[in-house]
This record gives sequence, structure tokens and C-alpha cells, in this order.
Amino acid sequence: MIINTELEQKGNLFPGKIISFSQNVDKLNFTTDNGVILQLTILRGSVIRFRYATDTNFEKDFSYAISETGARGYSMLKVEENEKAYIITTSKISIHISKVNIHVTIYDKDDNVVCKDDWGFHWEQSHQYGGNIVKMSKSAPQGECYYGLGDKPMHLNLKGKRVENWATDQYAFGKDQDPLYKSVPFYIGMHEERAYGIFFDNTFKTFFDFCHERRNVTSFWAQGGEMNYYFFYGPDMQEVITRYTDLTGKPELPPLWALGYHQCKWSYYPESKVKEITNKFRELQIPCDAIYLDIDYMEGFRCFTWNKEYFPDPKRMVSELLEKGFKTIVIIDPGIKIDNDYFVYKEAINNDYFCKRADGPYMRGKVWPGECFFPDFTNPEVREWWAGLFKEIIGEVGVKGVWNDMNEPAVMEVPGKTFPNDVRHDYDGNHCSHRKAHNIYGTQMARATYEGVKRFAYPKRPFIITRSAYSGAQRYTSSWTGDNVATWEHLWIANIQAQRMSMSGMSFTGSDIGGFAEHPTGELYARWIQLGVFHPFCRTHSSGDHGNQEPWTFGEEIVEVTRKYVQLRYQLLPYLYTMFWEYAEFGIPMLKSLVLFDQKDPQTHYRTDEFVFGNQILVCPIQEPNAKGRRMYIPRGNWYNYWTGNYVKGGMEQWVDADLDTIPLFIKEGAIIPKYPIQQYVGEKKIEELKLEAYYCLGNKEVSKVYEDAHDGYDYAKGRFSLRSFSFTGKENEIIIQQHKDGSYITEYETMQIKLIGLPFKIHEIEIDNVVVSLESIKFDSENNIIIVPKDFTELHIVSA
Ligand code: GLC
Repeated sequence: MIINTELEQKGNLFPGKIISFSQNVDKLNFTTDNGVILQLTILRGSVIRFRYATDTNFEKDFSYAISETGARGYSMLKVEENEKAYIITTSKISIHISKVNIHVTIYDKDDNVVCKDDWGFHWEQSHQYGGNIVKMSKSAPQGECYYGLGDKPMHLNLKGKRVENWATDQYAFGKDQDPLYKSVPFYIGMHEERAYGIFFDNTFKTFFDFCHERRNVTSFWAQGGEMNYYFFYGPDMQEVITRYTDLTGKPELPPLWALGYHQCKWSYYPESKVKEITNKFRELQIPCDAIYLDIDYMEGFRCFTWNKEYFPDPKRMVSELLEKGFKTIVIIDPGIKIDNDYFVYKEAINNDYFCKRADGPYMRGKVWPGECFFPDFTNPEVREWWAGLFKEIIGEVGVKGVWNDMNEPAVMEVPGKTFPNDVRHDYDGNHCSHRKAHNIYGTQMARATYEGVKRFAYPKRPFIITRSAYSGAQRYTSSWTGDNVATWEHLWIANIQAQRMSMSGMSFTGSDIGGFAEHPTGELYARWIQLGVFHPFCRTHSSGDHGNQEPWTFGEEIVEVTRKYVQLRYQLLPYLYTMFWEYAEFGIPMLKSLVLFDQKDPQTHYRTDEFVFGNQILVCPIQEPNAKGRRMYIPRGNWYNYWTGNYVKGGMEQWVDADLDTIPLFIKEGAIIPKYPIQQYVGEKKIEELKLEAYYCLGNKEVSKVYEDAHDGYDYAKGRFSLRSFSFTGKENEIIIQQHKDGSYITEYETMQIKLIGLPFKIHEIEIDNVVVSLESIKFDSENNIIIVPKDFTELHIVSA
């Protein structure tokens, strides 16, 4: 092949022809005449691992990303052979492996090509570092779209882009800037409505090219390690994501308060300032559950210490804050100040826990405290020690959550803004250089922090937030998108990043609301909070350099907008918690970009702004100043405008009014949306009644779920949860709502208030579980179509005259 010759001249090597095949249960090995082995592992009918060795030698098999609890097993596996290829068939796909060049082509059950090698696996030997630069290229049929890859601040559809994964501290990053803080080498390809995913589990610096270099080719490569990727077949995009999330792990449920509103700034101190801020939230009745202490709470930026001048009695303060419903969250960075009088430093030195350079000196770098050394979080003993350090802050002082920052790891005033490549890491016994450990460092720090917080917060649930992350970090931590800027463009970026993180298995993410660097106008802050309450993690944060960013600093009108939206978030907590449960239980992304919501509608493939929050609430932010509304695409199906109750038909672009206090919101017909009363913090009020807003639809289309439990603790894992499934059936003159209940948790409330929206008839009679009830007994409000019913009904008939 001419192409190969050209590439070979550039030092690329290619596999030869297959000379032997062997199978060991779920592992299939194909060896070529020049020492390449392709090993396939069949994890599930639609999840296949592809691993390539050169010199007939695999590395020791080890991954931080893969979860031990993921589903495994397949119902069918057949291997056949013809003149040209080996054909491996599972219940979902068949994989053809060419005998001449080991190229892979994957077909679905109808013989459609889903994914096909172009040059396939090839490599270059690395003379500088040893090992290989491993490469893969696949053909990209016309019209194929690409999504995923973590926190990239660019168009959701990555077609035409080349991106890089190398965790980087990017203060005030811009649109299209790459790389940022996270490395999630997972993408979804979609062609003719069929989606598949590829997770390149390689922690070295990786690159992905989506038809950027060559129009018909998609490729990915790494600066070391193995060509080791997992292929997921959909054809539903959501299935691809749930399978990826299952493989790399799902989170535990967070405490419900963590889904409330959080307030942060660099930095709130001293204690009186913290109290002033928290009191103001209560005074203005803007709900808030968490207050953050940034680096200034420490003594000279030494982690695990307190500045006693600013915070003379942290335990008292933390408990006083808690009495008012505020959970205290503190920042912990990886840099440990070089200081012989500092216990963390001394313990780490004495136990040899710090990272070292190739020839033995410690890895020294400047961060907030000045010169620092850095724990090697890839060493299990170091993680165990680090976890133990949380005894005092969590176990004794009563802090409820920990914020891990600067863990790319960030180093100041040096080229590359991080460790040099030669730094050594334990990598859980697979000793390596920073080239391999860099992208995973932040995740291993968050993991150690999670272990510690969980240990000392038990029996309550931990809360961790991280800036850097690699695939799988979702098992331990939430995340935020780093140091953004108070501009309208960044509002667009924040929306993209939250959606992209959801598609990348890391739903529990949000942006610094209002922007971290610079200062937003009141209008920008208002538009951002309107969007931010629909992101799984919801926190205002700012650098504090350019003025204050608490809602009241923008004047009365903005206070009202903020209150309205934060209140709405608190009302929607049972809906949000159910979304989280679906994510934690099944790996279902909490935010659904339109393409994920309806991939069969080509109109959705290039949309960026609109998304579905959970399964039934369509959100579209206003991203420009002085707007009175905007054009937006309403996906197929029928929807209700949340604010006006108007019924709209989807499948087209429309103008939607949205003054400063309105964000376009639509509810899917047939949905039953649960709400709690407004509370200033989670647990402030006893939930006396669950509100359900039921949106009429003709036919039987929608099932709505409400998951509840004690909102903290682990009893839910023993079955003490309450899962209600409602199905809505609408006829011209009748509605039937059926309820199915699971789990042994007894909710506090006894009744449910149901509000029927969009009802095409006047209610005449109501039956609960086949018994006609008097309309007075269920407090029927005929003007608003509201009824109050016992919580555990199984069937409700609402009939017209
Ligand atoms: C980094 C973080 C930011 C934090 C600051 C000080 O810039 O991204 O959120 O406030 O450090 O700790």
C-alpha cells in the first residue's frame, strides 16, 4: 500500500498478517507474523476490549479507571473463520478481523458497518522514552458526528476538531482552549442514527482527531502505554453512555443537601465575614446549604491547619453554621509546604510519601504556600495516610465536605505549569514517570480524600469536589469546570461543559456561577443563576478580585431573580434527587443534550444550547444581554411552556419570550413533576405533602419516577428507599394515574397534592382505587384542578361529566 509506505517512511510500523489464533474463554488472541498481538476481551455482548501488543508482549494489566463492580457476561460468543477474516459474533454485533492486516470492522445485526479501521493500529517506537507511540485510525463516514471527551470548551459536536488530553491549570481559559483540567478519553460516534463509543484507557497524553487532519478519518493516539480501548455499541447514544459509565463506575448517592445551592468565594474570612454572608442568605430568604472556605482559612496555606486569628474556634463556628443549616466545606490542595514544624510535612517526609525526581531529589514546586513537596497519591500507602488526615477536620471539627483543587497537579512559575516528565510515581506498584501518572494524579487525590471524608463522616455520606479528573473519577467525587470568566461567552461554555461532562459519565458537575475571573453585570449573573440551578452541581464562586458576587451585590431585582430560581431548585429537589438516583443506579446522564434526547432527529445533531434536565424538563438559557426571549429548537413531541402553561408542538424552532426573570422551560406532556415545599436548606422543614404537577397528554406515553430515602446515610442500600412510578394515561374525558411503589422507606408525608395541568375537560367525578370519593374529601379546587389524595393510592380515575 502506498499510504503505508509513506507512513512507514515517517517511522510508523504496521501489523503484518495473522499467523495464529487462540481463545481462552472470553479472550481471543490474534498474533501476526511481525509480533503484534490483538487481544479481544468480550465483556458484554456490546462491550469489547481491544488491546494490542507489539513484540508479542503485553504490559501488566492495570487500570485506575475500570470499576470492579461493572456488569460482565454475555449470552453468545461465536468465532468463525473464512479465507479473509475471523468473524466474532455476539448477541449484538459481529467483528471482522482481516487476516492480512488485522484490520477490524464492526457490524450490527443488520450488517450495517458501525465502526471500521482505516489504517487501524500502527505505532512508532519512542527512542527518547522507550516503548511506543501507539496510534489508531478509523474511517469516518460522511455525516458521522462525535461527542464526549469531558470538559472541552468547544462545540458539543467535535467533528472537525483535534483535541488533547493533558490535565492543565488554565486560569481564565477561553472558548476552544485545549487542554483544560480534565482528561476523559471517551467519545461517542454517531452515524445514521447508530451510536457507538470508544474509551481509550491510556493515561499518557492522548490526542483525538475527528476528521481534522483527514476528512474521512478519525484517529487517536498516545505518547506511551498500550493501544487499549473499549468499544461500546448502542445503537442508542444513552446506552453507549450507560455502558461506559458502568465500566468506569457510578457514584454513590450524595447527601441531598449537596444538591442544594452552594456559596463560595476566594475567600470568606474571618469568621465574622462567614457569619455575615450566611446570615444574609437567611435574611433575604435565598435558600443555601453550603458555605466554602477557600485557602485563607489555613495557617499560611498549610493543608489541615486553621488560621487561629481568623478562625479561633473552628469547631464552634462549624456547629453554629450547621444550626442554621449551613454545611461547611473546606479546600485542600496537594502542595504541602516545606516546613519542618508542620506535622503533615514531617509525617510525609518521615514515611517517604512525597513524589521524587528521576535521580532522587523530591519534586519541589511553588504553589500557594510557597515551596512545596507533593504526596504521591498513586501510592496506596500514601492514600491511606492522606485519608487518615481528615480525622480532625471531618470527625472532630464537623466539616461536611472537601474541595480538592490544583490537582492537575498545578505548579506555579514553571514551563508547562506542572511536574516535569521525569517525576517518579508508584502507580499502585507499576512504577512509572509523570508522563503516565499526570492525568490520573488528581483523581487519585480525590479518591484518597473521598476515603478519608467517608470514613470520618460515617454514617453520613461524604461530599467531595475536584478540579482535575480522569475517567472513573465519578466514583469518588463531583467536579467543577475551573477558572472561567464573567462573560456571556462563558455562559455558553458553562452550558456546553455541563452537558459534555454528563455525556462523559460525570454528571455531577457545575460551573462557577457568575464567572470566576472578572466581574459579571447583574444581568449576566441573573442569566447564569437561571442556568446554574439546572446543572447537577450549583455553586456561585468568584476570585473576589473584582468585587463581590453574592446575589445581593447586584441590587434588588437580581436578588429577586436569584431567589426565584434557587427556590425553584429547592422545590424540584425530589425530581433532581430522582435524576441522581437514575445516574447512580443505571449510569443515566443527568443532563441530556438534544442529540442524546432524540438522536433520530437530525436537527439535534448540531444543537448546543437546549438540553433536557432529567427526562422531562427542557431548558434553554438566554445567552445575550438585553434579551426579551430567543429562538430555540423544541425537540419532537408535545410540551407545555412551564411559565404560561401553553401547549406547544415540538420538532421546530420557535421564538420563546423570556424577560430577565424568565428562562425558557418546557415540560414534556404526560410528565408528573414532584416538588417539595420551599426550604432555606435541606431538612429545614418536615415534608408534609408531596406535590405532583401532572401535565395532561392524550394517550399513554410517560412514566415518571420519584425516588426518596432518608436523604443521607446508607440505609437506602438496605432497601430503605421509596420509589414511586407513576404512569399517566389521558383520554378525551378521563385521566388514569397509576402508581407502583417499591422499597421499604416510609416517607414523612401522608398525602400528595396533585395539580392537573392542561386538562381538556371539567372534572366531575374522582375514583381512588376504584371507589368514588366525594370531591370535598379530597379538597378539590376546581379553579386550579388541584386535589389532595392519600399517598399510596394505586389508581386514580379522574372523569369528566
Ligand atoms: C484556583 C481554583 C479556584 C480557587 C483558587 C484559590 O484558582 O480554581 O477555584 O478559588 O485556586 O484557592
